[in-house]
Amino acid sequence: MAKKLFIKTYGCQMNVYDSARMAEALAPLGYDMVDEPAGADMVILNTCHIREKASEKVFSELGRLRDLRDERAPGAGPMLIGVAGCVAQAEGEEILRRAPQVDLVFGPQTYHRLPELVARAARGERALDTDFPAEDKFDALPARPRKSPATAFLTIQEGCDKFCTFCVVPYTRGAEFSRPVENVLDEARALAGGGAREITLLGQNVNAYHGRGAGGDAAAEEGLGGLIRRLACVEGVERIRYTTSHPRDVDEALIATHRDVAELMPFLHLPVQSGADRILAAMNRRHTADDYRRVVDRLRAARPDLALSSDFIVGYPGETEAEFEATLRLAEEIGYAQAYSFKYSPRPGTPAANSSEQVAEPVKAERLARLQDSLNRMQSAFNEASIGQEMPVLFERRGRRPGQFIGRSPFMQSVHVEGAGDLLGQTLPIRIAASHPNSLTGEPVAALAATVRSPGRAGLQA
Ligand code: 5AD
Ligand code: SF4
Repeated sequence: MAKKLFIKTYGCQMNVYDSARMAEALAPLGYDMVDEPAGADMVILNTCHIREKASEKVFSELGRLRDLRDERAPGAGPMLIGVAGCVAQAEGEEILRRAPQVDLVFGPQTYHRLPELVARAARGERALDTDFPAEDKFDALPARPRKSPATAFLTIQEGCDKFCTFCVVPYTRGAEFSRPVENVLDEARALAGGGAREITLLGQNVNAYHGRGAGGDAAAEEGLGGLIRRLACVEGVERIRYTTSHPRDVDEALIATHRDVAELMPFLHLPVQSGADRILAAMNRRHTADDYRRVVDRLRAARPDLALSSDFIVGYPGETEAEFEATLRLAEEIGYAQAYSFKYSPRPGTPAANSSEQVAEPVKAERLARLQDSLNRMQSAFNEASIGQEMPVLFERRGRRPGQFIGRSPFMQSVHVEGAGDLLGQTLPIRIAASHPNSLTGEPVAALAATVRSPGRAGLQA
């Protein structure tokens, strides 16, 4: 009988990708994915360690899972509990100590060993595997499944060598690693063959990508720009995106790719973190606010309709009011389509956590509210400017209302459309009719023409 697997994913898109691949690795053992932990034979929490709140959530969720497991009907068999991801990597031993209900703990670099870990856990052995193994995880994982959703993630790069002083990633995900070009192309072909139309290339520092070229030749390395050009030739791939990038690694070849490759969508998440040079230096970002402005100018010269997004940290140790205002100014100047902003959260083991100049919590909260207010206004204005425009929307899922479909604009806006047949997996021209803070409402252009011809028709029901 099929066993039920529930995976709860926290944090970034790389974890979303990893969770999908964990499910694929467990499928040969008879595990099918379910949507809730109740009744599951195995529950995996794929965790995030980036900010304090993210890791705290793991221990409270583990408490709820223990209760669920204890309530299991006698004879229902054991419920295995696993902790994966970056909290597992950073605090594996402590999890096993603090949470006796946990059966297996493994990091982002060892989930290809899941079948073996599960076998050990099933024998009653608590399994911990947080190595950085020499073998290539991607080589060891099963091939991608035959069917893919319309939009898919593809991890091409992992780890980070930048060591920003606030960030745990270089410790939890390890040193930078790029997958060879051929492996990436093979996976893209499999995804596109299974129905994926949009591929988002993932990496902690994705534009530091430098994969071995054709035939595994180390001398013929390919950067992200070159990889995207090759991907655009893969049959079925209509749209390409990449995230998350570092301003330092935006090179001329990548900018030219934004200019030349129509499949590369005009939306870029390019985190700046702060607009003050002294803070950027303290963060070890290795660029100034002006360097960032110049990179954005060059990108916009290559692709004038490029919409931008960023990450910001407020209240980094020692940040003054004037330095925070420099961040506000930079954000307004660049004009973001959307952005994420966070209060600085000291992370154990990172240099900034030891600073004696920690900013008081109420000051961080007040700065965050001001920055978010500004970013929200920008986002609403960007969405409002879409009204009346016609844009291609790729539909990726059904909405909650009957006949409703949700897709993405080229600029990553969520677009809701109702009553026009089955739109899943299709890219259609949509006229934007209304804007909301986090989404747009649109109508298919062809259906609009039909309504114009027959004004008596009620709505757009196809
Ligand atoms: N505190 C607050 N925000 C952080 N980020 C990373 N580390 C921290 C931290 N210690 C934010 C950065 C990064 C995003 C993924 O999370 O803005 O770009
Ligand atoms: Fe963290 Fe900086 Fe690397 Fe991004 S570039 S993952 S913020 S260390």
